[in-house]
Amino acid sequence: MRRWQDIPGWFTWRDAQEEAVAHFPGGSTFVEVGNYLGRSLCSLAEVVAGSGKAFTVVGVDTCRGSGPEGVRGVNAHGHAVSAGGGTFAGLLHRNLIDCGFGDDVLIVVGDSGSAAGLFADASLDWVHIDARHDYDSVVADITAWRPKVRPGGWLSGDDYIPEAWPGVVAAVDDLLPEARRWSAIQWRWVND
Ligand SMILES: C[S@@+](CC[C@H](N)C(=O)[O-])C[C@H]1O[C@@H](n2cnc3c(N)ncnc32)[C@H](O)[C@@H]1O
Repeated sequence: MRRWQDIPGWFTWRDAQEEAVAHFPGGSTFVEVGNYLGRSLCSLAEVVAGSGKAFTVVGVDTCRGSGPEGVRGVNAHGHAVSAGGGTFAGLLHRNLIDCGFGDDVLIVVGDSGSAAGLFADASLDWVHIDARHDYDSVVADITAWRPKVRPGGWLSGDDYIPEAWPGVVAAVDDLLPEARRWSAIQWRWVND
């Protein structure tokens, strides 16, 4: 059996997943936008499985990578995209199956904004954003997903780090001034 710890990725917010699973009642729906090979998504599925509560867990990813990003223009997902002939969708799906969560997690292979359109407004309990990290992309993600979060729900994201990801910080501060730092390097907005 594969474990989420064996999957490559940058995941650091296990405590946030544990808080969400403890906080929300069974029947809630969680969406993670930006899954890469499933490290964070399989961890979330494991936390859910251990909770004894039933949640709907949805992953959204183009499976085409984010392309060159950050101050050094690193194409962190490029190898996986090339290895899969232009998509790592098969590897993401296989990792979910190998970790035992093939029947527990739904994957939407597509763009964040298009995927948001699949959900009714105010229908989601927790949406976590970890897709592209430039200002315009984070603005687009927040704009697309914020209306989907129900009253009392959470919208959050990764890499609230001014030095490394100024676009993330600027987009969150501009669109969600009520958002707060969360976990180690996350941000979270609560739809009060
Ligand atoms: C930083 S990685 C996600 C890492 C993952 N959450 C983890 O911790 O293991 C970002 C992912 O966002 C995806 N992505 C980039 N732009 C996207 C978009 N517009 N819609 C959906 N996914 C996107 C990329 O394909 C990539 O897999």
